[in-house]
Amino acid sequence: MSSTHPARAFSFSALKELILKKEIHRVEELLPLLPTPLRSHYALMFNSRSLQGSSFENPRVLMFMDQGQFMASFNGDPSQKAFDGFETMEFDPYAQEFNFREIRFLPKPQNGAWVTFSEANPDKCTKCHGTPARPIWDTHPSWPGAYGERYHAPLSDPEEKGLAAFLKAQPNHPRYKSLLNIAFIARKETFNPSHENRYNAEQPVSPNEELSRFLTTLNLKRILKQIQKSARFTQFQYALLAALGSDCESIDHFLPPGIRAPFNEKFKAFASQTEARDQEQQLLKGFRTYPLKFSADADTRTELVELTPFRFLVENGLSLSTDQWTTALETATYDFRSVQDTEGELQTALLRAIAAHDPELARLSGQRKVSSPEKYCNYLRKRSIEDLNHLSENQNEALKLTLVHTVEPKVLAKDCAACHDGTVGPELPFGELRSLRKILNQGKYPRGTLVQEIVYRLSMKAGSDSMPRGSNLTEEERTNLTRYFSELAHSDEGNRD
Ligand code: HEC
Ligand code: HEC
Repeated sequence: MSSTHPARAFSFSALKELILKKEIHRVEELLPLLPTPLRSHYALMFNSRSLQGSSFENPRVLMFMDQGQFMASFNGDPSQKAFDGFETMEFDPYAQEFNFREIRFLPKPQNGAWVTFSEANPDKCTKCHGTPARPIWDTHPSWPGAYGERYHAPLSDPEEKGLAAFLKAQPNHPRYKSLLNIAFIARKETFNPSHENRYNAEQPVSPNEELSRFLTTLNLKRILKQIQKSARFTQFQYALLAALGSDCESIDHFLPPGIRAPFNEKFKAFASQTEARDQEQQLLKGFRTYPLKFSADADTRTELVELTPFRFLVENGLSLSTDQWTTALETATYDFRSVQDTEGELQTALLRAIAAHDPELARLSGQRKVSSPEKYCNYLRKRSIEDLNHLSENQNEALKLTLVHTVEPKVLAKDCAACHDGTVGPELPFGELRSLRKILNQGKYPRGTLVQEIVYRLSMKAGSDSMPRGSNLTEEERTNLTRYFSELAHSDEGNRD
C-alpha cells in the first residue's frame, strides 16, 4: 500500500514488520531503528492527559512524519503509566480515516509472544479519541502541557527549568538519546521567534504549530469525507458550500422560503449554545496553562472559528453530530482555530469535490475572485433551493430540518464508569453505587479521601486533572455532581453510626 502512495513513507504495517523481524523487545531498542524524519519532528508533553504518563524531565514524546499522517508516542521513566507502550496514529488517505493502535512490549513473554499489537481504534483509544477517531491537539494559540505551550511567547519558568533538565539528561537517556534535531528544541527562537527572525522572515515553526497545521488539514479531510458519505449530502451540498466563507449572504437565503422562519429561530439557539460552550472551553483551558488563566487571555485575542451555519446544516440536515469535530479533547466544543485559515481550507475542499461533477460551478467559482461573487452566489442559491425543495416534496424531509436538534449533554455519575474500569482510568466502581459509597470516605489521595479527590476533580481549579476527562461541565452539572457525590459519602457515614 505505502509503495503505491508516495506521500506515505512509513506505516503501521512497516513498523510491525520491523518489530517482528528484528525481534525488538523494548521501546528503547525500537527507537534508533525508526525513520529519520520521525525521530526529527516531535512535540514534548510535560503534562499529558493521555494514557501515557509524563513529567517535565520525562515528557511524553509525540513524533510525527509525512505531514502528520504517521505519528507515534512514548514516555521516558519506568515509573510512568504505560511506560511499556508505544502508541501510534496513522491517517488512511484512501478511507480518509484515522487509525489509533497500541503496541505493548511485555515485561515477561506470554505464550512465546513478547509484544502485542492492538486492532485499529480499540475502545481503549476511542474513549478519548472518539468515534470516528480523531487526533487530539489543543486549539491554536495555546497547547497547555506541551513545551512551548503558549504560541509565540517565552517559555514560563517551570517550562524553562523543565526543558533544561530534559536537555541535560537527553544525550544519555536510554530513549530520548534516539531523538534527532534536539538543537532545534533547545533554541529559544523555536517557540518564541525574535524580532530579527520576524524581520528577516525566518520565523521558525515550532513543533506545536506544525502539528496544529498538519492535524487540522487531515481532520478537515476526515470531516469532508464523513459528510460526503451521508445519504442526504447531495441534497444539501450547495447549501453546505454556501455556509462556508463570507462570499455570499447569510445561509437562510439558500433554503426554500417555507423553512426560513423556523430555521432562523432554531439557528439563534444553536449559535448561542455554540458560543456558550466555547467560552467555557476558553475559560477552562486557561486553568490548564501556566501562569493560571494566561491562555484564556491570549486565546481571546484571536477570533474563534466555529463554522456555526455549516455545523447547523450538518447536524439538522444530515443528522450528524459535530460534537467531536474539533481536535480538542473536550467533546461539545466547537472552536476550529488553527494556524491556517480553517474555514477557507474546508470551503476550497468542498468546492473542489462538488465542482468535480458540476462544470458550471467550477467555471463560476473561478470567476468569483476576479469579478464579483454575485453570479457564483446566485448559482449556489438556485441549486440549493431546487435540491431542498425536491427533498421536501418527495420525502417531506425538509421538515426534519426544523425538528432535529442538538441535545445539551448531561453528565451523570454513571457516565464516570465509562473510563474507570482499569484500562483507561483507575478502577473505581462508579457503575455500582453501593460499592462506591463504601469507599468514598476512604483512601489516601492527593486531596484526601476518595470523595475529596472527586470533589476536587470536579472543580475548575483541577485544570488538566479535571474530570470527567474529555467533557466540560456546565456550572449546573458541576454543582449537581459535586452535591451528588458529597451526599452519597455522607449517607455512608450515617450507615456506620
Ligand atoms: C484518557 C484519554 C486518552 C485515551 C484513552 C487515549 N488518548 Fe491518545 N491522546 C490523548 C491526548 C489528551 C492527546 C494529546 C497529547 C497529550 O496530551 O499527550 C493524545 C494524543 C495521542 C497521539 C498523538 C496524535 C494526536 O492525537 O495528537 C497518539 C498517537 C495517541 N494519542 C494514541 C493513542 C492510542 C493508540 C490510544 C489507545 C491505546 C490512545 N491514544 C488513548 C488522550 C487519550
Ligand atoms: C474519558 C475517560 C474518563 C472519564 C469519562 C472519567 N475519567 Fe476519571 N480518570 C480518567 C483517567 C485516565 C484518570 C487517570 C489520570 C489522572 O489521575 O488524572 C482518571 C482519574 C480519576 C480520579 C483519580 C483516581 C486515582 O486513583 O488517582 C478520580 C477521582 C476520577 N478520575 C474521577 C472521575 C469522575 C468523578 C468522573 C465522572 C464525573 C470521571 N472520573 C470520568 C479518565 C476518565
